[in-house]
Amino acid sequence: MDYSCHHGSKGSSRQAADWRSATVAFAYTTLLIVASSVRMVQAADPDPLQDFCVADMSSHAPHVNGFPCKDRAKVTSKDFLYTGMRKAGNASSTGTNAFPLIVDVLLYPALNTLGISHGRLDFDIGGVIPPHTHPFASETLFVVKGTVYTGFISFDNILYAETLQEGDVYIFPKGSLHFQLNVGNGPAVTFNSLNSQNPGFLSAANQLLVTKIPEKVLETSIGINAKTLKLLQDSVPLSFGGSR
Ligand SMILES: *[C@@H]1O[C@H](CO)[C@@H](O)[C@H](O)[C@H]1NC(C)=O
Repeated sequence: MDYSCHHGSKGSSRQAADWRSATVAFAYTTLLIVASSVRMVQAADPDPLQDFCVADMSSHAPHVNGFPCKDRAKVTSKDFLYTGMRKAGNASSTGTNAFPLIVDVLLYPALNTLGISHGRLDFDIGGVIPPHTHPFASETLFVVKGTVYTGFISFDNILYAETLQEGDVYIFPKGSLHFQLNVGNGPAVTFNSLNSQNPGFLSAANQLLVTKIPEKVLETSIGINAKTLKLLQDSVPLSFGGSR
């Protein structure tokens, strides 16, 4: 566009028209940005309306979003303390030689309304946390001890994975399928952070194979016969959800 030859009333009105369309374009772009950031905000846990709201799990008050707050006069510093991650989880109790402890609002009521939760994963040698998703949270994993191969599947089905040493961090985008495998010669421990008070833990194998999806659906979807399906269904560890 040539701004140098806009003289007289005709020029000014053309210039004005240019500015008008530029303004409209700017407003439209701003609107798009605002609209998409509003969507982003809504996709995470909502912002709290007070500094804290320690969940009162015994309250029968309606749960509007999250849990009702404990009477503030009865809240003490102990309410904000969680000691349940001191000890290792029992890796040999799950059937995969790894134990996931997800410390969500149900275990740690002070998280209520604050949009965060934590996890501790304990692995024996070769232990696996099966492929799973957290529908409500992105997650970072920090290797406290050992060597862990971990990764996630993007929404376009690409595997992103790395072998992590002590002190390394990996991130799993919200809703992505991810897993962990201890590839070291000893036990491994990770500390995890999730940006939701209630991230959810959905094991893919359990959701698919040990829920009540009709066999016909599974046989056709996976492309296997009844015998193979039964074999798969009977071998999935139930510690990650579902029942036979
Ligand atoms: C760990 O789990 C296994 C299998 O369920 C059990 O035999 C063992 O006693 C448990 N160990 C501890 C320390 O609780």
